[in-house]
Amino acid sequence: MPNVIIVGAQWGDEGKGKVVDIYTEYADLVVRYQGGNNAGHTIVVNESKFVLHLIPSGVLHKGKRCVIGNGVVIDPKALLEEIDMLKGQGFLKDSSQLLISDRAHVIMPWHCKIDVARENLRGKGKIGTTGRGIGPCYEDKYARVGIRIADLVNEKVFVERLKGNLEDKNRYLVDFLGDSACDYNEILEEYSKYAKRIAPFVADTSLLVNDAVSEGKSALFEGAQGSMLDIDHGTYPFVTSSNTIAGGACSGIGVGPTCIDEVIGITKAYTTRVGSGPFPTELDCEIGEGLRQKGGEFGATTGRTRRCGWFDAVVVRDAVRRNGLTGMALTKLDVLTGMDKIKVCIAYEIDGKRVDTLPASLHEVEKIVPVYEELDGWEEALEEIRSFDALPENAKRYVKRLEELVGVESVLVSVGQKRRETIIVKNPFD
Ligand code: IMP
Repeated sequence: MPNVIIVGAQWGDEGKGKVVDIYTEYADLVVRYQGGNNAGHTIVVNESKFVLHLIPSGVLHKGKRCVIGNGVVIDPKALLEEIDMLKGQGFLKDSSQLLISDRAHVIMPWHCKIDVARENLRGKGKIGTTGRGIGPCYEDKYARVGIRIADLVNEKVFVERLKGNLEDKNRYLVDFLGDSACDYNEILEEYSKYAKRIAPFVADTSLLVNDAVSEGKSALFEGAQGSMLDIDHGTYPFVTSSNTIAGGACSGIGVGPTCIDEVIGITKAYTTRVGSGPFPTELDCEIGEGLRQKGGEFGATTGRTRRCGWFDAVVVRDAVRRNGLTGMALTKLDVLTGMDKIKVCIAYEIDGKRVDTLPASLHEVEKIVPVYEELDGWEEALEEIRSFDALPENAKRYVKRLEELVGVESVLVSVGQKRRETIIVKNPFD
């Protein structure tokens, strides 16, 4: 049975939640492998809207096992709030539906304080982080001083790790960042409570996922953020602190690349980004505002307005290559209805020279002048359309042109927020 990775092909917020929710029907396991509660996946089920930050959206389906892999950074408070919200709404009745890796790193109170204090000090150069402590937690992971879930649930080890970290962190917070110190007793009391509630969900999730795959079960690996926010391959330093591209799934779960069958890139029919950083096709004008309002482009995690712009084929082509995409799930096509002309960026010009890839240097990126192609728009509402052939001619032409420019075909086209407002072209689980 196929194992499929879902990744964002732009700067995140492409509508992964809805697509994962649709594909979950065909998967036995749904697995998160990187990021943390900086992500926000919005899913609409039977007119009710759910926003999930940490728990895979598969939790809304009965009998599907949801896994939070070792590559995820976990804020225990946020996790438990999400568990309580789900239980309150009648989901997650069977606790064994959720498994949390014993090797995942824990977001501690100092991570959030450092994240926010540093951003405040950065002034104009701020990254626009979500303030959830994601970057500082990954920093500790790579500095080999982090606290893992296995440490959290072992009281003796947790006390040692907490003591081992706190002096350094408080010195950094107070002396360098001018912030207040974290209190040992408060953290110990708070996190000990979290540990007791989280312990029943903890497992060696690599073992579990590999066993399930060997038994012929299907896994859906749910990426968070987008390829352009990847720590190695994105618009550095305006990125998140994990590998958001498909390669991150293997290390973030503990599965080999040989078990991956399909990689689907969730791609918005235009472009958005939250936070600071380069965005060559940004529309800082009425058209951008129109997309924001019609597309409801307000962050699911922080509520911040998303910056909006035309589709950038250079960015998505880059994502096709770095992820090895086998298909594209094109979302929010309906948002473009009613536009007379739609522009698509097909290449860049830098210092008068045509460029077909995104340069690494920010200095070069700042000089980008997008080269646009203009396509005719359509007036018809798309929400009730269920087959590609039934789309208005100009909408079909638009989708086909995007496919040609990025080099991969659409397997799904989303024409509305609701689960049923979707055109399935090809099912990657077949
Ligand atoms: P961090 O992940 O909170 O450190 O934020 C780093 C950058 O990634 C900022 O520009 C955030 O706005 C962006 N970011 C983080 N998570 C998401 C997401 O789920 N969707 C879109 N952007 C995100």
